[in-house]
Amino acid sequence: MEKLTGLKKIKTAVFISGTGSNLKNIIKFSKLEKSPISIDLIVSNTNKAKGLSFADQFKIKKKIFNFKDIKKNILLLKKEKIRFICLAGFMKILSKDFIRKFDGRIINIHPSLLPKYKGLNTHSRAINNKDKFAGCTVHYVTAKLDSGKIIMQKKIKIAVKDNPASLAKKVLQQEHKLYPAAIKKVFN
Ligand code: GAR
Repeated sequence: MEKLTGLKKIKTAVFISGTGSNLKNIIKFSKLEKSPISIDLIVSNTNKAKGLSFADQFKIKKKIFNFKDIKKNILLLKKEKIRFICLAGFMKILSKDFIRKFDGRIINIHPSLLPKYKGLNTHSRAINNKDKFAGCTVHYVTAKLDSGKIIMQKKIKIAVKDNPASLAKKVLQQEHKLYPAAIKKVFN
């Protein structure tokens, strides 16, 4: 990944579909001097995403994308001079053409220790399989779902009393530490 030039931060878009706790956390990180990125755009596939409220709170532009209209989306990202994309609780699968345009410049956080449990319901699958550990992974996005090169991972122990909801909560806390660390690693 390109080196930081001077004090200029890399203009970044965060894509969300839901609550946006990772988004909020990334925005806060981006405001620190040590952050290599600034958050200049929040994108969602649905206007129902609760996390869109952070656009107003932090005065960041927001857009609802129709993900079938790849050309329009790419044009808009270009217009905003977006050079890097963080997926944070983004539940749509990006098209090959879109990914090709941003090759090597899209990263995602996934709530499992990839390559285990790609896709959905990661926590219940880990519990049902009686795994001892769960965790989260930040990885590059490629055309193959949840399969791009791993940037960083955090492992946590699954307690006997854990259910999918309690485990999700614990993993999410770790996600909030992992995502900024992985962003720093990408640009170092
Ligand atoms: C997070 O746990 C994230 O890892 C997961 O959705 C949650 C979003 O929480 N992402 C995926 O499952 C992607 N396939 P948030 O909206 O509070 O950041």
